[in-house]
Amino acid sequence: MKIFDPITVGSVRLANRVVMAPLTRLRAGRAGVPGDLLVEHYRQRAGMGLVLTEGTYPVLEGRTWTGQPGIETAEQAAGWARVADAVHAAGGRIAMQVMHGGRIAHPDVTGARVVSASAVAAPGEIRTPSGKADHPVPHALEADEIAEVVRGFAAAARRAVDAGLDAVEVHGANGYLIHQFLSPASNLRTDAYGATPEGRARFAIEVVTAVAAEIGADRTGIRLSPQHDIQGAVETDPEVTAATYAASRTVWRRSGSRSSTCCTGTWAASSSRASAPASARR
Ligand SMILES: Cc1cc2nc3c(=O)[nH]c(=O)nc-3n(C[C@H](O)[C@H](O)[C@H](O)COP(=O)(O)O)c2cc1C
Repeated sequence: MKIFDPITVGSVRLANRVVMAPLTRLRAGRAGVPGDLLVEHYRQRAGMGLVLTEGTYPVLEGRTWTGQPGIETAEQAAGWARVADAVHAAGGRIAMQVMHGGRIAHPDVTGARVVSASAVAAPGEIRTPSGKADHPVPHALEADEIAEVVRGFAAAARRAVDAGLDAVEVHGANGYLIHQFLSPASNLRTDAYGATPEGRARFAIEVVTAVAAEIGADRTGIRLSPQHDIQGAVETDPEVTAATYAASRTVWRRSGSRSSTCCTGTWAASSSRASAPASARR
């Protein structure tokens, strides 16, 4: 096996085995629409076997930064279609990272409430259009609201593949909403979405299962970063952490989901413990 040999991952044929990590660029303006800058940015990188897009919000409530692109509106989808066309014309493949920021958000950016697993603010500050501000205390999602967020991920994935992207990576890492459910520091729930490793894993499983049901498990992935200890999504107990991430797979199998290839597969299970300083990580 050589790094420049082709490979098929799920149903996506890659020209080589080099995969570009998702990198937030904040070049999509207030409307979150990918324009000429992003078309050119991704076209220039199409020589990699697979380009992962920057974290892209599925619903406005899940937006973290001004300038971050979305995949919620028809205009945003049309912008992504231009990106996908440019990457394909250059011989590449592109997967969208769908990212819900959860409590790493601010009403001055979204005009919406801030949500998470529990009403626990992230440590530190977040950038807003008028400067830095403390992270707000988020609204703890009710069970019916969780179901709505799950549907939002699936609808975003549908829009992404309809726009021509080849696959979807759910952002389950780096302290954003899914990681906020996985971490015992940010998830203090006592219901079915917390309290135990199985409970904390449930939301991640529901999101990936819904996305896989919508677009196919053969083009669905998830990024995980256990013990990355970032943005307050801290996982200090190795046994609890191992049980939580193992529970994801156990519950998955029990649910009979056909999407299990997602987290045991090759490109999908991009469990990362990045070496960059925490402040540089998105
Ligand atoms: C400017 C910048 C933006 C990033 N944006 C994202 C992102 O949108 N989604 C994501 O999962 N990771 C993001 N990351 C993390 C990178 O994908 C990667 O994990 C990190 O740079 C560490 O790389 P390494 O694992 O090669 O050391 C970002 C990192 C940087 C420096």
